Amino acid sequence: MTDRNGPILSARGLSREVDGRHLVDDVSLDVDQGQIIAIVGPSGAGKSSFLRLLNRLDEPTAGTVYLEGRDYREIPATELRRRVGMLMQAPNLFPGTVADNLRFGPTQRGETLSLERIAELLDRVGLSGFADRDVGQLSGGEAQRVSLARTLANEPQVLLLDEPTSALDVDSREEVESLIIDVIRDRELTCLFVTHDAPQARRLAGHAMVMEAGCCVTTGPVEEVLRA
Ligand SMILES: Nc1ncnc2c1ncn2[C@@H]1O[C@H](COP(=O)(O)OP(=O)(O)OP(=O)(O)O)[C@@H](O)[C@H]1O
Ligand SMILES: [Mg+2]
Repeated sequence: MTDRNGPILSARGLSREVDGRHLVDDVSLDVDQGQIIAIVGPSGAGKSSFLRLLNRLDEPTAGTVYLEGRDYREIPATELRRRVGMLMQAPNLFPGTVADNLRFGPTQRGETLSLERIAELLDRVGLSGFADRDVGQLSGGEAQRVSLARTLANEPQVLLLDEPTSALDVDSREEVESLIIDVIRDRELTCLFVTHDAPQARRLAGHAMVMEAGCCVTTGPVEEVLRA
């Protein structure tokens, strides 16, 4: 059953224990449709580990996640990863052209991404005319924009971003950040993103969650949380 009025994504007692260590320890969080949440906290706090649990890239050792009210363990992995898209810190494109990379997700689902749609996606990320470029020739910022376009090709409902601009040089960092802001607003995406950059958290997010030692220690409006 899906519950259209409830949170779009709900972590319940979400935990991951590896070799007796709690990387993520009993985190519960409700995310409403359209909400943008920054995940902050010291290095090693479990922010990336938490994000990876949200689309089941890693398996929880306790707890679960509900996507529109449905336990995500009941949702086939390909469907789940389409609906909950992820953008990593460094672009992880595979060798080939830009278009090959954009087609990857849809092809896995037996769908064809039209040339028109490819052009539209590239236009969206400011890379018109890049379809036939070899990804080996792209700058870091361009590659990250292709990664974003590839995620968007799957038309996700929820977007997870793990320090999406921290590996870029300062100029492309600003470019990619403003692109991300535009895309999120355009599509009214629900979004969770990890950042070490408090000003970036304020620019992008309405809410923030602070993690320490695998636990969620605070959640609330970003201004209140970051002031504390
Ligand atoms: N696959 C793994 N197996 C065992 N331990 C892991 C694994 N991945 C991460 N860890 C450990 O889990 C803890 C949390 O790591 P995580 O990468 O989630 O932190 P983080 O908050 O994202 O840190 P950073 O800000 O440096 O990116 C760290 O102590 C890390 O060494
Ligand atoms: Mg991390």
